[in-house]
Amino acid sequence: MKRKTLTQYLVEQQRAEHALGSEVRLLIEIVSRACKTISHAVSKGALGGVLGSLESENVQGEVQKKLDVISNEVLLEANEWGGHLAAMASEEMETIHLIPNRYPKGEFLLLFDPLDGSSNIDINVSIGTIFSVLRAPASASGREITEEDFLQPGSTQVVAGYAIYGPQTMLVLTIGQGVMGFTLDREMGSWLLTHENMTIPADTKEFAINMSNMRHWAPPVRRYIDECLAGKTGVRGKDFNTRWIAAMVADVHRLITRGGIFMYPWDAREPGKPGKLRLMYEANPMSMLVEQAGGASTDGTQRILDIQPTSLHQRVGVVLGSKNEVELVTRYHHEASKSA
Ligand code: F6P
Repeated sequence: MKRKTLTQYLVEQQRAEHALGSEVRLLIEIVSRACKTISHAVSKGALGGVLGSLESENVQGEVQKKLDVISNEVLLEANEWGGHLAAMASEEMETIHLIPNRYPKGEFLLLFDPLDGSSNIDINVSIGTIFSVLRAPASASGREITEEDFLQPGSTQVVAGYAIYGPQTMLVLTIGQGVMGFTLDREMGSWLLTHENMTIPADTKEFAINMSNMRHWAPPVRRYIDECLAGKTGVRGKDFNTRWIAAMVADVHRLITRGGIFMYPWDAREPGKPGKLRLMYEANPMSMLVEQAGGASTDGTQRILDIQPTSLHQRVGVVLGSKNEVELVTRYHHEASKSA
């Protein structure tokens, strides 16, 4: 069977009515090439000397793994020279990365979590790269990009995607025209379209949440999970299954493939923080993908893509996946705040 390559898909999208711009096409090609390089490094593991941690901490105060830093550098280097970007931002860097003056600048902003699920690296379990593309505001034309230029709601994203480094390496992408999954053919070195128009069923019997935090959850989350756990004889009238890979990219990939609900909600461990996951590098791109696949995504009360960011490294509660389940959790939050 002759499959479409990523390049063929993108060229078709350029010719389509919605005419994908040539800068965006170049951007996607370059990001996907960088993901190939990261995939190669990941698959070498101990043989490539890439496992383990460094002495350093990132801006979030987390110990950096060697692969966090390698992946960040690969993405920065790959995207500097193409002339398609105005600036980049990464979960691993405190401030934004401007395109050096020796290169031409474009009109897009690239954000990424270079290696999501770092705690899985050393145990040989799936990890990934998540990315998001925004257009630089018109007001930024002719001046240097600032952090504020990145603070746009997720609904303005032009592209969102991730690469997952698992048993297969896959690139899952949306340009706002559905969700497409490409598998890396290692011999050919090309991304081939294997999963066209990925869709999330509205109902599911599978939930993903870190159960060890149960005692810290807010009552609506507790209520939802208690009802799932009650199974067939409970109010939901069906048995649920649970999965937790501890890499958002892998948990989201599962639900984009076969449905499910994923939650990393606010909890009382650090009550001042709205959640663990980052709005700009994780929640926004994943929410765009999930919505494009027919699912839903909220922070418990509000659609994530509508949130106006106030800082680059902002955190957020996340509830996303199969539509009917996400709506139920969101309703429980609204009911709880009404009765409070
Ligand atoms: O980026 C944070 C992250 O690694 C996510 O990919 C993942 O869903 C989550 O943290 C896992 O958190 P925990 O260690 O609490 O299970």
